[in-house]
This record gives sequence, C-alpha cells and structure tokens, in this order.
Amino acid sequence: MRRPMVAGNWKMHGTRASVAELINGLRHLALPSGVDVAVFPPCLYINQVIDGLKGKSISVGAQNSAVESMQGALTGEIAPSQLVDAGCSLVLVGRQAGGSGVLGGPAERGGSRGGGHGVRNRKFAAAQACGLIPVLCVGETLEQREAGKTLEVVGRQLGSIIEELGVGAFANAVIAYEPVWAIGTGLTATPQQAQDVHKAIREQLAAENSEVARGVRLLYGGSVKAANAVELFGMPDIDGGLIGGASLNADEFGAICRAAGN
Ligand code: 13P
Repeated sequence: MRRPMVAGNWKMHGTRASVAELINGLRHLALPSGVDVAVFPPCLYINQVIDGLKGKSISVGAQNSAVESMQGALTGEIAPSQLVDAGCSLVLVGRQAGGSGVLGGPAERGGSRGGGHGVRNRKFAAAQACGLIPVLCVGETLEQREAGKTLEVVGRQLGSIIEELGVGAFANAVIAYEPVWAIGTGLTATPQQAQDVHKAIREQLAAENSEVARGVRLLYGGSVKAANAVELFGMPDIDGGLIGGASLNADEFGAICRAAGN
C-alpha cells in the first residue's frame, strides 16, 4: 500500500513574519498519522521553517537545486548537498524558471513544457545522489490538452528520465502531475481527468518495472483545496497532492492533509 503524501509548495510567497505565522499554524494542526506531509518554502526561509517545525512530523524541501551535487563555483545556485546539510529531505524538480526542465519555465509565467530535458534530468540525478527525494513535476499546457496530446507530452517528460537514469530512479522519487492550465487558475482537473493521466504514468513505469510502478507515489497538483481533495484523493492512482495557494493557509492545508488520510 502506498502511503499518501500531501506537500505544500509555497512558491515565492512569504516574509519572515508571515512564515512565522504559518509555522505556528502548522504546529497546531492535528495531522493524520498515515500521511506524509511536507512543505517547500522559498529557500530564504528553509532554516526558519526547519527550526520552527522541530518535533512536528512535517518534512521540508526546496523548490529548486543545482545540477551539481556538491558545493562549487556556481553563483546563485544551491547544491543538493547544502540542502541536505540544512535539513531538507525533498526537492521539486521541473518547476524552475529559465531551465530546460519539464516546464521549460514556470507554469505561473506561462512557460511551455517543451524543450530539452537535460538540465532537469541533471538536477534530478544530483538531488538523488545526495539522498534528497526528487519530486518530479510533469504536465501539459491547455493547448496540448486541447490538441489531444496530454498523454504523449507527459509520457515524453517521464520517458526522458527513464531513458537517461533508468526506471530504478523512481524507486526513490515522487511524481507530481500538474496540468499547467490548472495551476493557480482555480481550474482543477476533474478526478477522472487526473486519474487517467496518473494511470498512464503508472503504466509507463510498469512497462519497465512493475514493482517500481506499484510503489511510486503520484501526486496531483493544480488548484487542490479542502473542498475537492477528498474526491481527487479517492481515485486509485492519486496518492495525494502538491498544493500551491491553499498550502499558505494552515487550516486549509491541514484539511487537505486529513482528506488524504481518509
Ligand atoms: P495551486 O494549488 O495554487 O494551483 O498550485 C499548484 C502547484 O503548482 C503546486 O506545485
């Protein structure tokens, strides 16, 4: 049985004061014991969040990391090894600006998801080499969905990692399906739309290794709220969610975590 996971991607939100408030809210949540809960604050606040959540079973991850595992002469980058040193256990891969990752630029800025996957794949590998769990974000644009290309696009995004790093890379990774058109728009994929893509992802992995496919957690991301979480998480291949806007409100986030524990 896969253990559900709910993760909050805080994106570029927060100040020291608002982060302190959010930490306080999270500390007071009654979280379901059967669900893995994580948050991804902006890098500046990672130390504050790790200190503030001590003793609470909420993991902390980063929203980005460098293509090299170890420290080095890369201005403005953060090495996965430094994230581990800070106490992070996870990192998002494929949601970063300017890279040739899954999104080719952040969904928030309308980036397309085409392009090469080299930088993204290197980030994935470098993170894993340091013991971080990469959360690989995949998904299609509205244009691609309307052209009937969703499964092809997502299949390519996933296939590139399988080809380069082997399916075994997913034995210790999480995949988040985040349709670009549903991110921050208030539009949510229907549970069936999300399930169809999650099922295809699992089948693609199963064609290479059924054990890896059975074990990997597939999160849905895109306007998840307490009001739609139960239905989404009730689908057989949806193992939880990657939550944006709603994760900035501790009570709402807590309700979504509880929905995953049902
Ligand atoms: P929203 O929940 O704000 O749509 O964002 C989803 C997301 O991008 C999580 O990574």
